[in-house]
Amino acid sequence: MKFFIVTYGCQMNVHESEKIAGILEKLGYECGQSREEADIIVFNTCAIREGAEDRVLGNVGALKRLKKKNKNLIIAVCGCMTQKSKTAEYLLSTFPFIDIVIGTFNIPKLGDYIEAVKKGRQLELWEEGDIDEVLPYKRTSGENAWVNIMQGCNNFCTYCIVPYVKGREKSRQEENILAEVRAILSEGKYKKITLLGQNVNSYGKDLVPQVSFAKLLHDICKIEGDFVVSFMTSHPKDLTDDVIDAVANEEKIEKYIHLPAQSGNNRILRLMNRKYTREDYIKIIDKIKAKIPNCRLTSDFIVGFPTETEEEFEDTMSLVRYVRYDNIFAFMYSPREGTVASKMDGQVDDKVKHERVNKLLALEKELQKEVK
Ligand code: 5AD
Ligand code: SF4
Repeated sequence: MKFFIVTYGCQMNVHESEKIAGILEKLGYECGQSREEADIIVFNTCAIREGAEDRVLGNVGALKRLKKKNKNLIIAVCGCMTQKSKTAEYLLSTFPFIDIVIGTFNIPKLGDYIEAVKKGRQLELWEEGDIDEVLPYKRTSGENAWVNIMQGCNNFCTYCIVPYVKGREKSRQEENILAEVRAILSEGKYKKITLLGQNVNSYGKDLVPQVSFAKLLHDICKIEGDFVVSFMTSHPKDLTDDVIDAVANEEKIEKYIHLPAQSGNNRILRLMNRKYTREDYIKIIDKIKAKIPNCRLTSDFIVGFPTETEEEFEDTMSLVRYVRYDNIFAFMYSPREGTVASKMDGQVDDKVKHERVNKLLALEKELQKEVK
């Protein structure tokens, strides 16, 4: 019996697929090389932008042909897209060959659903799950091991679907994270530990007693061994001095910070509910540059947020010029149903979004050519 997993979206999803692979191996499945030879195909989906959802829908649709050839093939869809009940029902009604649709927190029960498929189709969406549940991972990213430290997000940036599909912030107990890191390192084949969370800087705020992200970083660095620690993603409003100091002073921490700015204009940042100004952001960047020479910096930007004018977009361009990132990720704003921004007046034309994204990426390319 073979499985094949198709993963969309961010690193957290890539790591989630390692968990799914671990569960399936425990159930006796082997990793297959293609959809054609699989007995179960799992689509781990992403909902961050419309494009991501469209790709999933197109590719799930194409499975109809395989199901025709192999009546026993099990098709499961999970991940961020499914967690919205409307989308889950849409998937089941549009694609009658899907067997299992499961929400963000139900993956540990995948084995039960596979069993139950013999009796009929499965749909289950949970409100919450246990973030500390110990599950087998089939790690797939070479010398790097992903370690989830928290899930969910409390920030409700007005454009973002994540808080709706991943729920509120929930941190893992520090001792469980440290135990996982020790176990990974004891295998001897990993040189890098990358800590994952939607907003790692607020790690531990929900624990009793509270634990700071900086403390977690220091405690991980105390573990013996020859390894590097990295983390993502940071939110500018929560990136504290003690974390910057940890990156500066701990030899084991990679000198790299991904710090999404999203926009360089204060009115747009306010509309996005980012809770910092352009000036606040620049201050943090200056601090990082002063304390951590040669720190690599990357960022995400959204262009064409509702009502963004050409002048306001130019503020994003000038921020990119100022910071001189090592790389940027630029996205055209994509309205997500249920979010505040999707209901705002002044949605920007696709043509304008295209122009702005191309302009921003062209600028980044130019800057990268110049010596810093
Ligand atoms: N439209 C476009 N980009 C988005 N992002 C999040 N939500 C949206 C959206 N609705 C981007 C942000 C975030 C990255 C992971 O995806 O820049 O940092
Ligand atoms: Fe989305 Fe904002 Fe949370 Fe990031 S911080 S996941 S952009 S709501």
